[in-house]
Amino acid sequence: MINQHQTTKEPMKIALVFFSPTGSTALVAEHIRDYLLDCRAVPTLIDITPMAYRGESLDMAPYDALILGVPVHSWRAPRVVRNWISGLCGDGKPCSTFFTYGGFQIHPAHHSTRTLLENAGFRLVSSAEFPASHTFNLGGWKAMENRPDESDFAVAKEYAEKTSCRFSGEDRNLPGPFEPTTHTEAFLDEIEMFRFRILSSLPARKAKSCSLCGICQEICPTGAFDAQRGAASADMCIACLGCLLRCPEQAITIPDLSESFAFKLKAEGMTIDQMQTKESRIYF
Ligand SMILES: Cc1cc2nc3c(=O)[nH]c(=O)nc-3n(C[C@H](O)[C@H](O)[C@H](O)COP(=O)(O)O)c2cc1C
Repeated sequence: MINQHQTTKEPMKIALVFFSPTGSTALVAEHIRDYLLDCRAVPTLIDITPMAYRGESLDMAPYDALILGVPVHSWRAPRVVRNWISGLCGDGKPCSTFFTYGGFQIHPAHHSTRTLLENAGFRLVSSAEFPASHTFNLGGWKAMENRPDESDFAVAKEYAEKTSCRFSGEDRNLPGPFEPTTHTEAFLDEIEMFRFRILSSLPARKAKSCSLCGICQEICPTGAFDAQRGAASADMCIACLGCLLRCPEQAITIPDLSESFAFKLKAEGMTIDQMQTKESRIYF
């Protein structure tokens, strides 16, 4: 028998916003979009990776709810996304977050992003995390290769179903507190700078084969890369490596990071096999 409530209720309009310099978060977002459609929701995928799309704040008026998907960069949402969130006006609307991460530390990303969204007037109803190939694999790391996979997409399906029930009010529960941090913002900012020590130098043009197509500059999410100079501004670059991945001539490089991967695994007391057992998870 068809439930009267279900037949008359308007489908939820969801702004499904993602930031994804190297594509993994976009891939998960696309799966979530498809699963939300199965839940009778109306998701609109909004890619805020290009700098131009973060120029103006997102107008939430046409939407009933927000889902925000971002990669973990040094334990938090990337700096440019944190800044973007502070310009939003949630007006009490429900929201959810999901993160992709490269198999290492993820906290306090859930907690700190929730705080930012709640400060912007949203009500967080769920969160999720999905292991994904680490960006630094582009420099020789071997973290979470071939993820996300079907097991992760199965969790993405469950996340979409449960989150849409929370958005519609069918399920009125809320998640408990997320793992906080005792670290200061200054310490977290310092961790963020650590990526530069791992990279030892920023992405730069090394090959002579560059045709100056300008894609590196065009797609740089922070406006840091200068195609003419073939180099990134240290103040603006967030080391997302989008330029390196998208360069059609493979003219942009970073140093070989293989040694730093071994060091990182040792520092975390982890093996590649142990890392591969990490699973996607919903915080509900
Ligand atoms: C600058 C930087 C910092 C990162 N920090 C972390 C981290 O703290 N923990 C982690 O597990 N992965 C970390 N990663 C890996 C990314 O979270 C992961 O590869 C993500 O899926 C990339 O998403 P994208 O393909 O959508 O850009 C970092 C990647 C970059 C570029």
